[in-house]
This record gives sequence, C-alpha cells and structure tokens, in this order.
Amino acid sequence: MKTLIIIRPDAVLRGLVGEILTRFEKHSIRVAGLKVMQLDREKAGELYEIHKGKPFYESLLNTMVASPVVVGVLDTDVLDNKSAISLVRKIVGATDPSLAEMGTIRGDFGLRIDQNIIHASDSVDSAVREIPIFFKKEELVKYKC
Ligand code: PPS
Repeated sequence: MKTLIIIRPDAVLRGLVGEILTRFEKHSIRVAGLKVMQLDREKAGELYEIHKGKPFYESLLNTMVASPVVVGVLDTDVLDNKSAISLVRKIVGATDPSLAEMGTIRGDFGLRIDQNIIHASDSVDSAVREIPIFFKKEELVKYKC
C-alpha cells in the first residue's frame, strides 16, 4: 500500500526533512516518491477540498503555500494495509501538537495546530485520492523485495 505525506513549509524551513523521513524508514516504510514543490492555492485547495468552508480553511491554505513543501509517497508493503495507515498515523501523532505524544513527529517538533509539521493521509481511501494530486504513476517506484 502507498500513502501520501507532505512535510509542511514550517518543517522544511526548520531543516526537519531528513529527520522526518528517518522516522518512517526506521519502521521499514520506504520512500516510493519524493518532490520539493511550491504549492499554489489551487493545488492546496484540491488536497483540502473536504475542509472547504471550515473556519480554518483559509489559514490552512495560507500556511501550505507560504514556502516550499516536500511531498512524498511512502510504501508500506512490508505491513498489512490496516497496520500501515495506523502505524503512519502513530508515527505522525495527533493533529494538535499540544495533544500529540512525545516521540511522535508532531509531539516532538510541532508548535501549534497551524504549524504541525506534516500532513499524512488518514485512510486508504484518502491516500488513493491524494497521491494522484501530486504524482503521476510513472513517478513512483516499485520495490521488488
Ligand atoms: S476536522 O474538521 O476534524 O476534519 O479537521 P482536522 O482533521 O482536525 O484537521 C483537518 C486539517 O486542517 C488542519 N487544521 C488547521 N490548520 C490551521 N489552523 C487550524 N486552526 C486548523 N485546525 C485544523 C489540520 O492540521 C488538518 O490538516 P492535515 O494536513 O490533514 O493534517
């Protein structure tokens, strides 16, 4: 299974890209695609279309387009599908950094809800919808073992 992560502008500016990828690699989750991108409002709006109209929507879009992000696809084939999504979410931690456990990415590095370091698909369905927003099929590698 594959899932999408976006290392947010705040984390890229703080030089946390390597550290964040390492957290996944330690669990044998592999990188199948990786890009540094400057998002525009249209792209960010596509990602967050289900949140359109919510009070935080504009602020969310503003933070995502503020400076470059690193967008990645993680390959979790070493795990079963159910464990994969829950393990990725566990590594990431709760949305609000003040509630995220220490040892999670957001618990260790997050500052506030609008600077929570990383986006990760929250379900298999979300991953299937979100990955093609950023990657063509041929941009993702397949691991043979
Ligand atoms: S909801 O309404 O429960 O579905 O929202 P939630 O899952 O908590 O958050 C959805 C995404 O919006 C981001 N978020 C915010 N950004 C900026 N400011 C505020 N106040 C805020 N509240 C929520 C949150 O980080 C989620 O982004 P992703 O990228 O999906 O983690």
